Amino acid sequence: MGMFSDAHKLGVNAIRLGNVVIGGQAFLAPMSGVTDVGMRRIAMRFGASLVVSEMVASDDYVRGAQESRIRAEGAGVDPHVVQIAGCDPRWMAEAARLAEASGAAIIDINMGCPAKRVTGGYAGSALMRDPELALRLVEATVSAVKIPVTLKMRLGWDDHSLNAAYLGRRAEQAGIALLTIHGRTRCQFYQGRANWGAIRAVSEAVSIPVVANGDCANLEDAKAMLAASGAAAVMIGRAAVGRPWLPGQISAGLAGRAIAPPTGSQRRDAALEHYETLLGLFGARVGLRHARKHLAAYADHARAPSRGAASDRLALVTCEDAGEVRRLLGVLFEDIGQREAA
Ligand SMILES: Cc1cc2nc3c(=O)[nH]c(=O)nc-3n(C[C@H](O)[C@H](O)[C@H](O)COP(=O)(O)O)c2cc1C
Repeated sequence: MGMFSDAHKLGVNAIRLGNVVIGGQAFLAPMSGVTDVGMRRIAMRFGASLVVSEMVASDDYVRGAQESRIRAEGAGVDPHVVQIAGCDPRWMAEAARLAEASGAAIIDINMGCPAKRVTGGYAGSALMRDPELALRLVEATVSAVKIPVTLKMRLGWDDHSLNAAYLGRRAEQAGIALLTIHGRTRCQFYQGRANWGAIRAVSEAVSIPVVANGDCANLEDAKAMLAASGAAAVMIGRAAVGRPWLPGQISAGLAGRAIAPPTGSQRRDAALEHYETLLGLFGARVGLRHARKHLAAYADHARAPSRGAASDRLALVTCEDAGEVRRLLGVLFEDIGQREAA
């Protein structure tokens, strides 16, 4: 039972991957265009057990593309996980080396992305249709670095090819340290409900830790997911947008430590910090474009009951002026603060 049973001997639900100890059971999922370093840093500070960078195209990253560098940024994130994607073992190996040299503690390989742009180049989830190529990519990545390499995939390409357990076992033999399974097939894209029970076939096929992913929105979901899948941890994606503290809340809940949700002022400060990080990363004009979806999501979760809330939200996501964004965030979260004070 390898590392997972060893980790259990630590007495907490820790997962140990090489030198990296993951102290909880709720991870933030990699989301392109969403889990920028600002969001990952905040999620980690609020107790997420692990956070994963946006997918980085291995060839672009090695060629030094600025966008890839920004995606792989990990300042203030510890442990730092860089997710790489691609279909050429040489690029994958080079990208893994570069990420390791740049401070990554873990490399994650993406074999789950369903986007045509990615699967068309035979990367992401398309690799699940070509296990031999998938394994060559895994082997090249694992042998390129000293740090642990993890793998994220789906249940299979479609309902007739649920090969995650087979691929998972082969990947384990090739040196993969942890597997994340999104409980959908590629052909499902994001439709239907994730099948947590189907992840159990993978948990039972391998002795490395398995992380269950797909449609986890709260502590009850997380508990049900762990029970159905036999996984060691859960990974939370969409439900954490606008709520980067959610994985930390769920992690604490799974450890039996109920913690209070962040106060209005903590949420406002997190949203502001995230906004400022994006302006710093991308510059004011592009940063603002990246920040809009986050600001909208923070505002949606603020649920300020005041009459002006809807127009404040609209003003927030269309605002071009950093000072005004700061003021509007203050207004949006003010009601929460007042309710808490009452
Ligand atoms: C906007 C968006 C971007 C995503 N980008 C990535 C990515 O870069 N790498 C990856 O492995 N998965 C990516 N995913 C998939 C998520 O990591 C996760 O597997 C999926 O959203 C299911 O989890 P959820 O139901 O908790 O959101 C993305 C998902 C979304 C919604």
